[in-house]
Amino acid sequence: MRLAVNIDHIATLRQARGGAEPDPVAAVAVCERAGASGIVCHLREDRRHINDRDVHLLRKTITTKLDLEMAATEEIIAIAVKVVPDLVTLVPEKRQELTTEGGLDVVKHRTKLRKAIQRFHEKNILVSLFIDPVKDQVDASMEIGSDMIEIHTGEYAEARTDARRRKLLLTVRTIAEYGKKIGVGVNAGHGLNYTNVKPVAQIPSIDEMSIGHAIITRALVVGLERAVREMLGLIMKP
Ligand code: PXP
Repeated sequence: MRLAVNIDHIATLRQARGGAEPDPVAAVAVCERAGASGIVCHLREDRRHINDRDVHLLRKTITTKLDLEMAATEEIIAIAVKVVPDLVTLVPEKRQELTTEGGLDVVKHRTKLRKAIQRFHEKNILVSLFIDPVKDQVDASMEIGSDMIEIHTGEYAEARTDARRRKLLLTVRTIAEYGKKIGVGVNAGHGLNYTNVKPVAQIPSIDEMSIGHAIITRALVVGLERAVREMLGLIMKP
């Protein structure tokens, strides 16, 4: 099992003040030194966190794997084929959403997605499709030439009862096993945190997890004491 760390929310914090700090690019070495197998960022149409400058610098800085999450729009595809990330993860994108709200409907949009995948393959960029754990979506992803799928774990993560969580975990497991069986790479992500990640991590058919919000949130909490002490150290010095 590998971990790809999504650094979008470091950029969210930067955008809150409109300055240069914190810089998501500076987080790369820390995540890689800690054992991350890749770095994920989502270049959204509205540039609400990661921006074009970040993507270009991330490409130069990352030594593991750059996974560029994006919608299959002409503007972002044109940027991606210039940047040449190691992996592109295609997601649906709505302007008003707080975060990605569901998987791609690959069955419905297969023609458009097939064309996008071909453009990435011409540049030797691997492609993953973010989909809900539904067999027809896995079949369609395989059929249009996707190298991987990323199973949307959001519904599992949001389950409010143990029974529902168990049921949704079984769905994720069944779809992961099915994907592996038909020969597509299987990743998983969205909403995973320190309390719900373990059962998903124990599914042998999943190769990699993509986790962001929980890690950046935890970093703030575990780093806060040191940050306060360092500031006090400066203030208290004569
Ligand atoms: N995978 C995909 C496709 C996503 O859109 C996101 C959110 O940007 C994640 C994984 C990470 O989700 P979270 O921030 O909840 O860990």
